[in-house]
Amino acid sequence: MRWHYKDIEYDSIDRSKVQDKDFLFYLITSASFIEITSDVYEKNLATFYQDNPEVVQWLEKVWEPEELQHGKALKKYVQTVWSDFDWEEAYDKFRQEYLPHCTLDEFQPTKAKEMLARMVVETGTSTFYRAIERFSQDLNEPILAQISHNISKDEIYHYDTFYETYKHYNATEKLGKNEIVKVIYDRLKMVDGEDGRIAYKAIYETLHDTPFEDRYYEEHKRKVSKFAKKYYPYNMAIKMLLRPLNLNKTVEKASVPLIRGALKILGI
Ligand SMILES: [Fe+2]
Ligand SMILES: [Fe+2]
Repeated sequence: MRWHYKDIEYDSIDRSKVQDKDFLFYLITSASFIEITSDVYEKNLATFYQDNPEVVQWLEKVWEPEELQHGKALKKYVQTVWSDFDWEEAYDKFRQEYLPHCTLDEFQPTKAKEMLARMVVETGTSTFYRAIERFSQDLNEPILAQISHNISKDEIYHYDTFYETYKHYNATEKLGKNEIVKVIYDRLKMVDGEDGRIAYKAIYETLHDTPFEDRYYEEHKRKVSKFAKKYYPYNMAIKMLLRPLNLNKTVEKASVPLIRGALKILGI
């Protein structure tokens, strides 16, 4: 591993810089839940790619430990800054509701297509942590900046490995540009899917005695989109999403504003 969360100086965090940032608490806690549940995804992916021992080995020995470390690093951050919050209780609630959604049915129909979907997910995570890094720099909170920087780099590395695997399978599948766009677009629509809502609900119910209502989550999403407008690296996301299309530089440049508009319509 390129870094270890145990080397991070959590004790040196100036909690006053972040403690009152409610939406950040929800964002980071939700991310910790999803990352720490990567073992389930790893097993599903390993089953899907069982004909390819090299991929399975990388998933088991590299991808899963790195994703789990992301979860542990964020969990420790939450427990350090928001120490009254019962992370374990909220995570139990999350896991119960989330696990039935993690099935092979959610996978794409072919191996190259599933790799494209994984690239969209890694684009989402690498850019999300880049945004958190920028935000932490603005807050002058170097520990969160360091954690999110490390995680973002790992996610880019995952993207690159999935891209190589995609190319391997696409040498046989030979997907057309329209098919590639469709997989990317369909997976993008899922970015705003159930996982974020389930995580928010589990956190909310751990903190409050009153029942969760969807409007609370909608309000949270409005805050996140305001945050994204300022900190989200749109161009980085677009470049990563367009890469499998192998466009020449002129076409790629021309596509950027179009895709940027589409991402905004999708609320990303
Ligand atoms: Fe991750
Ligand atoms: Fe990743």
